[in-house]
Amino acid sequence: MASIPKKAQTARFLKALQSIKGKPYERGFSLPGAFYTDPLWTQIESSELFARDWFCVGRVEEVGQPGDFFSFDHVGEPLLVVHGRDGVIRVLANVCRHRGTVIAEGSGNTRKFLCPYHHWAYDTTGQLLNAPHLESHEAFNMRQCRLPEIKCEFWQGFIFANLNTRAAGIGKQLEALDPVIKNYHLEQMSLRYLADETWETNWKCLLENFMEGYHLTPLHKDTLHKVNPSRLCSHLAPGKRHFGYSVGFTTRVPKGRVGHPDLTEEEGNTCVMFAVPPGLLVGLGSDYSSFLCIRPESADRVRVKMGLVFFGDHWAQRDVDKAVKLFQHTMDEDKQVLLRVQQGLGSRYHAPGPLASRNLEGTIWDFYQYLSHSLTTAKKSTRN
Ligand code: FES
Ligand SMILES: [Fe+2]
Repeated sequence: MASIPKKAQTARFLKALQSIKGKPYERGFSLPGAFYTDPLWTQIESSELFARDWFCVGRVEEVGQPGDFFSFDHVGEPLLVVHGRDGVIRVLANVCRHRGTVIAEGSGNTRKFLCPYHHWAYDTTGQLLNAPHLESHEAFNMRQCRLPEIKCEFWQGFIFANLNTRAAGIGKQLEALDPVIKNYHLEQMSLRYLADETWETNWKCLLENFMEGYHLTPLHKDTLHKVNPSRLCSHLAPGKRHFGYSVGFTTRVPKGRVGHPDLTEEEGNTCVMFAVPPGLLVGLGSDYSSFLCIRPESADRVRVKMGLVFFGDHWAQRDVDKAVKLFQHTMDEDKQVLLRVQQGLGSRYHAPGPLASRNLEGTIWDFYQYLSHSLTTAKKSTRN
């Protein structure tokens, strides 16, 4: 089959997204497979969503102490999150100001960052400390040289960053979500489990999977179904920067694990599943919560940082282990099925299928509306 020129292919994608804008849930169909398999479309999503919108990089606790840092690649941008010895948490470009080498690797605690190539040294605020043999350079001022700082903001214990310097604050954009989640006090929950993986599926498949309750009963029949079955799912009205659903429990949350005293009884026994697209997914519970920070690596690979945060300091390690085991088990069930989804989406016989009722798959339609709105509305370049 002759390949379609890039411009025509992009126009096709945008036309498909434009055609669903504002359509009711009852007319919702899944997107064509090419949205999940075409590298060109992943490139567009990377530059127009992940390099333009706010993305979550993890929990504040990951860099709880001065000197703590972690590095990662965000759609081609090497970045560094560091708790400076001046007490400020920053997101910095992890790119040497000499000749561009990626400076820090992995995570840890440090007093300074040393570029491996020619040993330029930077402090934990990003300021250049030392550049060997550069004293005689006439047009270079070491004191004015620092690693570029990326816009960042803290919300509910998460660190968000944005490559777009003109973006409005994320906290403001999420005000509509506040009344739904505020009593849970997610910002007070502490990190007891963290994992970083690459899954062999499109990032949207993972997002959609985490954000719909339709599969809870059939796919997770021996795990989540027993706790949070599909029949207890209920769609939440989407906001400008979020969407989600809630799901009840089959049995009351144990009395000793009810979470923050601000919670109503109903909230205490409801899990709020919400997404702040493109990259943050949260399963908010009264006693503990799960979260996923996702970013595409390619059309069929997604990087996922996932964690569990717990409310209160009364948690015995064996109860934490039990929660981790359930989480790992269900995530593994998802991971296996998503391999098959990705395989099927690449088939010539795949065609968009109808979405189930609003309580079960309304969030998928909300996600598509986010894609449609974000990608079919003209914007200025992020390279500013
Ligand atoms: S590239 Fe970093 S010190 Fe030369
Ligand atoms: Fe699942």
